[in-house]
Amino acid sequence: MRPEGIAMITGASRGLGRAIALELAARGFEVVATMRDLESGADLAERAAASGGTLSVARLDVTRPDTIQIPEGLRVLVNNAGIDEAYLPVEHTPLSQWRSTFETNFFGVVEVTRRAIPVLRAAGGGVICNVTSCAYLTPVPLFSVYRASKAAVGSLGESLRAELAPFGIRVVEVLPGPIDTDMLAASDRLPEGAGHAGYRDFAEGLLAGRRASGAFTVAPEVAAASVADAILNDSAPLRNACDPLGQGQLDGWRENSDETWMRLMLGAGPD
Ligand SMILES: NC(=O)c1ccc[n+]([C@@H]2O[C@H](COP(=O)([O-])OP(=O)(O)OC[C@H]3O[C@@H](n4cnc5c(N)ncnc54)[C@H](OP(=O)(O)O)[C@@H]3O)[C@@H](O)[C@H]2O)c1
Repeated sequence: MRPEGIAMITGASRGLGRAIALELAARGFEVVATMRDLESGADLAERAAASGGTLSVARLDVTRPDTIQIPEGLRVLVNNAGIDEAYLPVEHTPLSQWRSTFETNFFGVVEVTRRAIPVLRAAGGGVICNVTSCAYLTPVPLFSVYRASKAAVGSLGESLRAELAPFGIRVVEVLPGPIDTDMLAASDRLPEGAGHAGYRDFAEGLLAGRRASGAFTVAPEVAAASVADAILNDSAPLRNACDPLGQGQLDGWRENSDETWMRLMLGAGPD
């Protein structure tokens, strides 16, 4: 597609969403950067203008349908807003955590997307880009709530890709690895699961893996450029990486059978 018309991003107050908003504005879209607290975006229009772009800020909480307004003329929707919570084993994760994570990461995406589809169709088609996580490609213990919420968006995207193609709406997914944002910084901790009998080794292993992946961390601006490339490339596959670690995970997942990949990830070696 050509970088024309309106692009709307959720969770653009900071982190990857903010960088995507600025990148899409620099590429030529008229950007609507949405966020829960408008003050977080006070400098965004000026920053976009500095690179010749157009950007406005609008309030949107993906868990509050009354705040969801889709601008007429929408060509691109980026579902980026996301949270992660306590890293617990399933048996010790309260249902309330499943519900709150899914409320933002999955139901928020569903509701914003559901409302955007007729507007995208009226504009002659466009792109829906879902930001998930390469974490859902690997069997990481203590991470099931976040992974399941992102895998659900992955499945949603597969159906939407088929369902919306006749309307000229292309669906792409970006699966980030470690991106230098508040979310990544907050994950640099011993998982809460360490406090439960039988799970301490997993928790320590997860923290060691998290720290090892630090060497592959990329800046949000670098990841945002890859997100914009996937949006603009009409031949982009459904699933796209935006950093080297995410690309490696996606390649391994694609190149192996699901059983081989699982065994490799669990350290049991190939079949
Ligand atoms: N950073 C990574 O390493 C990484 C890796 C894999 C996937 N991801 C995914 O990339 C996306 C962006 O993450 P990030 O690293 O930029 O995270 P971040 O720095 O924690 O920023 C999260 C963004 O989501 C917004 N948000 C949270 N709940 C929201 C809600 N109910 N309505 C609207 N906005 C909401 C936050 O807004 P407030 O400022 O109002 O809180 C913030 O703008 C997420 O979907 C995340 O799961 C990130």
